[in-house]
Amino acid sequence: MAEKRIIAVVGARGAQGGGLVRAITADKNGPFTARALTRDIRSDRARELRALGAEVVAADVDDEESLKKAFAGAYGAFCVTFFWAHMSPEKETAEAAAMAHAAKAAGLEHVVWSTLEDTRKWVPLGDTRMPTLKGQYKVPHFDAKGAADRLFTDAGVPTTFLATCAYWDNLIHFGWGPKRGPDGKLAITFPLGTSSLAGIAAEDIGKCAYGIFKQGAAHIGKTIGIVGEHLTGPQMAAALTKALGQSVSYRDMPPEAYRNLGFPGADDLGNMFQFDRDFAADLRRLHSVEASRALNPELQTFDQWLAANAAHIPIG
Ligand SMILES: NC(=O)c1ccc[n+]([C@@H]2O[C@H](COP(=O)([O-])OP(=O)(O)OC[C@H]3O[C@@H](n4cnc5c(N)ncnc54)[C@H](OP(=O)(O)O)[C@@H]3O)[C@@H](O)[C@H]2O)c1
Repeated sequence: MAEKRIIAVVGARGAQGGGLVRAITADKNGPFTARALTRDIRSDRARELRALGAEVVAADVDDEESLKKAFAGAYGAFCVTFFWAHMSPEKETAEAAAMAHAAKAAGLEHVVWSTLEDTRKWVPLGDTRMPTLKGQYKVPHFDAKGAADRLFTDAGVPTTFLATCAYWDNLIHFGWGPKRGPDGKLAITFPLGTSSLAGIAAEDIGKCAYGIFKQGAAHIGKTIGIVGEHLTGPQMAAALTKALGQSVSYRDMPPEAYRNLGFPGADDLGNMFQFDRDFAADLRRLHSVEASRALNPELQTFDQWLAANAAHIPIG
């Protein structure tokens, strides 16, 4: 049997990278082994990664030298940044640049870069439909990733640009779950109007990335938008009603009101939902369920994700 090739996985203890490590290590006869990057190789979760069969190595995306060492000898790498850890698009850009330079230095043959749309291609900075944030962004946590695509191309790294979308897991971990209104009734509240939101089980992102590595060269230089389902607010509420056994409705909210909710990043997310609302047709075209399933035959629907996860959704 040919020797297995190493995929270095940034964020291996996180949602996206973790899914990829699990996909690689579950495929015992597959062509790859997982090298899991973490800042703390002595943690319990690092031990869990070793137990799965991954090699665990230390690296920090803020330290290019550590990335060069961690990428050395690998065939490929999965690269992701951690916007919500610092909320700085400039830092995210620097992290992407460090990964691109390290990938080039290591001579990697295939990198999958976890990106999002640069919304300024749809809503230029001068467009007053939504405010400009942090001086030069409309949706900072999208725009910096989309703009960073170029850093991989310019560095000459053979890259697939994996455009992800909203995790349904945000219902559990990011405060998106149903809340009781003054009438005592449960509702989810997003500024989506009648448009749909591109959503996915976070675990499926890593599985799609695995599909890209397995299918290989054909995807280099391409942008692939993935999605589990495009669902409207009422469709999500109906699925939640069924899964939770309690009535959940969808409440709409103007993006402006969402931007002013007062939590850190509310303005960024308000602009994001407005982008999702106003350009849903483009996002349906760019994020295809069929293309995602071709990479990951186990791609979950929202109902399937809820069947496994609804019990963990906090009800406010
Ligand atoms: N939530 C959503 O709906 C959504 C949708 C699309 C895209 N995204 C994007 O997804 C990205 C985050 O990915 P994720 O959800 O997979 O992350 P995550 O689950 O928060 O991953 C956290 C892991 O990343 C590692 N990490 C954090 N800072 C690091 C650093 N400086 N160097 C190396 N590793 C570091 C940590 O591992 P160690 O402690 O082991 O080092 C941590 O366990 C964000 O940029 C976000 O914008 C989110």
